[in-house]
Amino acid sequence: MTTTRLVPVETLHKIVEIATRAPSVHNTQPWRWRGGSQMLELFADPSRQLRETDPDGRNLTLSCGAALHHAQVAAEALGWETQVSRHPDPAQPELLARLVLSPGPPPATAEDTLAALDRRCTDRRRFTAWPVPEERQAHLARLANHWGARAVALTDESERFIAERLVRTAHRVQSADAAAQAEQAAWRHRGVEDGVPADALPGAADLVGAHRNRFEGAGDDTSDPDLEASDGLLVFFDTRDDAAAWLRAGEGLGAMWLAATTGGLALVPLSQVIEVPETRAAFQTEVLGSLAHPLLLVRVGWRSTSRPPPARTPRRPVSEVLELA
Ligand SMILES: Cc1cc2nc3c(=O)[nH]c(=O)nc-3n(C[C@H](O)[C@H](O)[C@H](O)COP(=O)(O)O)c2cc1C
Repeated sequence: MTTTRLVPVETLHKIVEIATRAPSVHNTQPWRWRGGSQMLELFADPSRQLRETDPDGRNLTLSCGAALHHAQVAAEALGWETQVSRHPDPAQPELLARLVLSPGPPPATAEDTLAALDRRCTDRRRFTAWPVPEERQAHLARLANHWGARAVALTDESERFIAERLVRTAHRVQSADAAAQAEQAAWRHRGVEDGVPADALPGAADLVGAHRNRFEGAGDDTSDPDLEASDGLLVFFDTRDDAAAWLRAGEGLGAMWLAATTGGLALVPLSQVIEVPETRAAFQTEVLGSLAHPLLLVRVGWRSTSRPPPARTPRRPVSEVLELA
């Protein structure tokens, strides 16, 4: 007797291929997928966890959340509705989500969505000087909230100042931490499947006027942050600091990043400030008034349209991350 495969294998393959274009910390791609006749399951892959800087798995789960977002919008664009159960089996904590697929009409925007998922990237070069309007930042936060995450734009000058100061402190702390540096170095220039290649990072000319990124040394960056900066800062937060909150934040990150891409904005996560326990605690009390846990900070700014995008970061082949039941 043959069983009917309701969702073609090629479709499962395509959805996972698009989902793997999602951002992940250091391009670790810490996910595994299992496909069935009508469903896809997303698993965390702890073998790809950053033990030094992400011992709790926060960034790992956030990364998987972004992939979960991408899988949902990819499925929809390909004509499949999804019903998602998050953490469906408490006995299997690594099973983050189960997506049940059923045929549905692809939205009119399907092609644009697929194109934006394909071109989304981390562009760490300097932004143009145009300010990102507060309404625009609020819109990005609302989108993330619509996906069950909680995000807010930091528009108050003193909050921004403190956040920027803590970002610099975290960078200095990690730059002086040999184990954290070794871990980061291990995920640079790894080859053709994962990690952050040199050509995805800004060259010397593109660094002028750009914010310092985590892949550069700390230098003597002890001056006060620039209050006139025109870019936006948004923080993902939650009253809980657990896997359920991280997964939702990741989905919100995927949604926010896709909208930023479509709207001409670059988005750069600043996760060091959350990775370093002291700056995470200071962020919680000094920026969020102890009301919630910070999960991820991101910076947004207008991309210069005169420059070609940075090189694409590699991905593992689908055959390595998708197992068909
Ligand atoms: C949870 C998370 C944390 C990240 N943290 C940083 C960061 O602190 N600094 C940075 O420059 N990029 C950060 N990134 C971006 C990744 O390095 C990037 O997504 C990955 O290298 C793949 O490249 P792509 O986004 O261009 O596809 C982060 C991404 C995620 C999902």
